[in-house]
Amino acid sequence: MGPVKRKTNIMAQSTYSSVVLAQRPKANIVPGETFKLKQNPMISESDLKDGQVLVETLYLSLDPAMRGWLNDTRSYMPPVQIGELMRGIVIGKIVASKSSSFSVGDYVTCTSGWTELSIQDAKAVTLLEVPPNGRVTDALGLLGGTGLTAYFGMTDIAKVKAGDFVVVSGAAGATGSVACQIAKLKGATVLGLAGSEDKVKWLKELGCDEALNYKDPQFKEKFKAATKDLIDVFFDNVGGEILEAALSRAKPHARFVMCGAISQYNSAQPVGPKNISMVIAMRIRMQGFLVFDYIKEYPAARKELAQWLAEGKIQRKETIIKGGLKAAEQALVDLYNGINTGKLMVEVKAEDAGIESRL
Ligand SMILES: NC(=O)c1ccc[n+]([C@@H]2O[C@H](COP(=O)([O-])OP(=O)(O)OC[C@H]3O[C@@H](n4cnc5c(N)ncnc54)[C@H](OP(=O)(O)O)[C@@H]3O)[C@@H](O)[C@H]2O)c1
Repeated sequence: MGPVKRKTNIMAQSTYSSVVLAQRPKANIVPGETFKLKQNPMISESDLKDGQVLVETLYLSLDPAMRGWLNDTRSYMPPVQIGELMRGIVIGKIVASKSSSFSVGDYVTCTSGWTELSIQDAKAVTLLEVPPNGRVTDALGLLGGTGLTAYFGMTDIAKVKAGDFVVVSGAAGATGSVACQIAKLKGATVLGLAGSEDKVKWLKELGCDEALNYKDPQFKEKFKAATKDLIDVFFDNVGGEILEAALSRAKPHARFVMCGAISQYNSAQPVGPKNISMVIAMRIRMQGFLVFDYIKEYPAARKELAQWLAEGKIQRKETIIKGGLKAAEQALVDLYNGINTGKLMVEVKAEDAGIESRL
């Protein structure tokens, strides 16, 4: 792979790209059918009203929840409509401002969607601060939605404490890898579950006491042996068979943190665990949550996560797909195939294809 070419000045172009939903998938996203790349007439400072900013997208966050936003069903937010810009959180740079809160060159985050350029109300944009030892992209990972989800799920929903035996599914992903490390910081013993030997190795480097590859043909037996003392806390990112396995190994009064169910998101016929009655038999407290429930507590949580990062107490990995917006659709498909370790994002400004993994 040669050096990454960059568009130096998007404002010099006559159009900019965005991605819209073309068709609702019935199961898996179909590359070339589900989304459509669109060219739009250029926008500039003269299109801004007072209190607005023009944001150029640098990085686009890819999130498992995106698959749910394509379904025309009741959920925690309305579905993306056919022909509508695909929703997404981005890191961007202010290229023009009619707001006293932002200057040209400021790095920001906002939910501008899958677009190279957007006009935003200043109140919908957050100024990005890079902490010591941090980098700009932490705003989508450790200090963004996934890091915060791990933080609130582990500290508030699980109320993890020293001596707990904690199992985390999807453990090598953006949320799971932070959840494992927070549990360790709180004095728990941690078993992480992930889908490859490389991910298992990384989880051990992160400090997990044990890690297992759920694709190993002997996984069931190994999981039973690794949970011989039974589970106090299960932090679930995956659902399906792994949730069923965890229910079968729950201690009385275990806490089950229902964070996500990625194994079911692309299924035309999602399935639940057959042994759900273990919730009764073991008096399990099973609680779902959304990170947005904690919006008022984000600053305090970010402060603590940034402190752990600065002190070297927490690590993170990023998987960055290059190739601009046109790479986003395939990258989202690959998220469900486990292409990423840590946080998956698309570098929107890089035109050459490629993939970068960085600590
Ligand atoms: N409740 C909330 O507010 C909230 C907020 C953010 C995220 N979430 C949820 O948290 C979970 C993780 O999200 P994330 O953004 O951190 O993504 P992520 O874990 O970084 O990426 C998804 C990972 O899921 C794993 N996976 C995919 N299909 C699977 C399957 N069939 N069985 C087991 N594992 C599978 C893959 O890793 P392997 O190689 O290990 O299979 C993949 O790398 C998702 O379920 C998401 O919906 C919830």
